[in-house]
Amino acid sequence: MSVRRLAPDHVQPASFAFDSANENWADQQIAKYPQGRQASAVIPLLWKAQEQHDGWVPRAAIEAVARKLGMAPMRVMEIATFYTMFNLQPVGEHFVQLCGTTPCALRGAEALKKVCEDVIGPQSTVTADGKLSWLEVECLGACCNAPMAQINFDYYEDLTPENFKALLEDLRHGRPTKPGPQNGRTGSEPFGGGETLKDPALYDGSVIGAGDWQKRIAEQRKAAAEAAAAKAAAAEEAKKAEATPAAVGSKPATETAAAGRPKPSTPAQPSGAAQDTPAAAGKVTKAAVTESAKPAAAAPAVAESKPELLTAARGGKGDDLGLIWGVGPKLATMLNEMGVWHFDQIANWKAEELAWVDARLTGFKGRATRDDWISQAKKLATGWRPESAVGEKPVK
Ligand code: FES
Repeated sequence: MSVRRLAPDHVQPASFAFDSANENWADQQIAKYPQGRQASAVIPLLWKAQEQHDGWVPRAAIEAVARKLGMAPMRVMEIATFYTMFNLQPVGEHFVQLCGTTPCALRGAEALKKVCEDVIGPQSTVTADGKLSWLEVECLGACCNAPMAQINFDYYEDLTPENFKALLEDLRHGRPTKPGPQNGRTGSEPFGGGETLKDPALYDGSVIGAGDWQKRIAEQRKAAAEAAAAKAAAAEEAKKAEATPAAVGSKPATETAAAGRPKPSTPAQPSGAAQDTPAAAGKVTKAAVTESAKPAAAAPAVAESKPELLTAARGGKGDDLGLIWGVGPKLATMLNEMGVWHFDQIANWKAEELAWVDARLTGFKGRATRDDWISQAKKLATGWRPESAVGEKPVK
C-alpha cells in the first residue's frame, strides 16, 4: 500500500465550495443523523466533494467538509487519507485502478502494469491530454476473472496485455468499450465450456447402480398414458350414450328410451337415490353405487313422452320456477330454454312427460322426479306460495 499524501501545493485549488445542488444534497444527508451526530455524514460528503472536483479530493474540500460538519479538519483528513476510494491526487478522465493482488498477479497483472507505464506513465500521473491515469490497488473482488482493472465505475476483466492496451486506446479516443470479461466469457463460467461432470453415465443412474430406471420410468409413463386414453374413451362412450335420448326425444311422438342405456336418474331408479334432497344431491349412497355398478342392460326401460312446450312465456312473463324446491337459477334457465315457463305446464305432466324432461336436465337428471316437481307445481299453480324463496321441501 502506497503512502497516501495530499497532492502538492501547486495543484491544490485555493478554495472549494459545494455548488447549490450538492449543498442541498449534503444538507439532506446530514439531516439523516440525530442532533450531535452530524459527523456521521463525513464519508458521503467527501464522496460528493470528490465527484464535484473532477474525481479527487483537494485540501480545500477536506476543510470545507470539516466546516460543514463542525469537525476538526484533521479528523476529516484522517478519513480521507485512510480510505483509498478517496483520490488525493488529480486523476485522468478515465481513472484506471489496476489490481495487483496475488490472484491477479498470478494471472499476469505485472504485464498489465507494464502496459500502464508504457501507455500512461508512472502511477498517479495524468497523461498530457488529461484522459488517463492509473494506480495499483488491492483486490477488487473479481479474482475469478483475473487479471482485472476498475476504470471509473466499471470492471474490465480477463485482461491480457493486448486487449488491455487496446482498451486504453479506445478510452483515450472516446471509442465505446465493453465492461466485463474481455475474452468472450459473460461471467465467471469456465472459459471454453465446462470440463467436469461431462460423463453421460453420471446421469443414467448406472454409476450409483440404479439399474435401468429410465426404462422402468418409460414403461410407467406409457402405462399411465394408456390408462388415461382408455378412461377418456370410456367417458366419450358414456357421453354418446347420454346424448342418445335427446336425439330420440326430438321426434314428436311418444317414444321409449333405448333399452340398455344407463338411466341413473329416471323414476325407475332405486328408491335410495330417488329420495335425495337438493341439499344432498351431490352425495352418493352405497345403494346408489351398488345400483350404478349393475350392467346397464339391467336398467328398466322408461317410457318418455314430450310434454307440451312453449316458444315463449305466456303474456311475456313466466312463473318464478325457483319457487319449486330444488330448482335454482341454472335449472330454471334450462327449463325456460326447453319451453317450460309456467307452473301449470309442470302440474299437467304425465309420468312419461316427467321422464322426458328428467332425461334432459343435463347435470341434474332425475331431479324432477326426486323432488316431485309435479306435486309442487300443482300447489303453486293454485296461487299458493311457500314461505321461503327457494320453495318448500316436499314431504316424502
Ligand atoms: S486479486 Fe485481483 S480482483 Fe482479487
